[in-house]
Amino acid sequence: MKKIFAFIGSPLKEKSNTYNLTKMMLDKLVKMDGEITYEILTAGHVHIKYCTGCWSCMTKGFCPLDSTDDMGGIRQKMMDADFIIMGSPVYTMSVSGQMKTLLDRFCAWYHLFKLAGKPGMTVATTAGSGLEEVHDLLEMLMTALGIKSVTRLETYAYFPGIYRDPESARKKAEEAAEIVYPYITGEKQVESDEFFEECFKIMKNKVTMGARWLAADYKYWEEHGFLELSSYAKLLEKERENE
Ligand SMILES: Cc1cc2nc3c(=O)[nH]c(=O)nc-3n(C[C@H](O)[C@H](O)[C@H](O)COP(=O)(O)O)c2cc1C
Repeated sequence: MKKIFAFIGSPLKEKSNTYNLTKMMLDKLVKMDGEITYEILTAGHVHIKYCTGCWSCMTKGFCPLDSTDDMGGIRQKMMDADFIIMGSPVYTMSVSGQMKTLLDRFCAWYHLFKLAGKPGMTVATTAGSGLEEVHDLLEMLMTALGIKSVTRLETYAYFPGIYRDPESARKKAEEAAEIVYPYITGEKQVESDEFFEECFKIMKNKVTMGARWLAADYKYWEEHGFLELSSYAKLLEKERENE
């Protein structure tokens, strides 16, 4: 079985346009291959508290809020997934506040490449503007988590269920399914690229220079043998050897 996990930052649960666009693509994938299963959570399905800025994730290695809301479960679902989707409606030219709350809670994970080697993609819907801003932000942060975004899916939509062009939305969802399918079966593998390499350099520098303060991050890099590595490509190689 291959598992896909999607988090959609809309409060509207099953009524959300972004949820439904994502579901169109996932239903197509399941039709293509019965070995594929998926779970979509929206911000409306879960409770995620705001980051309190306590720095515990980077200094002690855990978030004290994880045991008080749904974030621990979401982290586990992402670790278990073969493919990860992050989607958001455009809210005021960016991701929704709910999505930003989730992204903030990943804080330490942006230094650790815990999801290295996993493929994924971004999804966005809007009434008219801000699609690129949402994709760019999600894609950049997914890279820092170690996820390679292999495509972008988007459409124009207004009130729940009202798409500007429903047929074009369906077509785009089905085309996206064709693009992601080989990454789910393993026929295509995620490789390093210039963004991952840049991110690796920045994170290595941050973790090494900040060793005194970011004690948990440093320990993680030390224990995983990342400190001796010269590139993200080598990190991927190392993680695949351990699979
Ligand atoms: C609070 C809020 C802010 C929005 N901001 C924008 C915006 O800046 N630009 C735009 O074109 N559409 C904006 N929209 C429209 C939504 O992006 C659009 O309807 C989207 O499909 C909603 O997705 P959802 O059903 O998954 O929540 C906004 C909608 C809401 C509710």
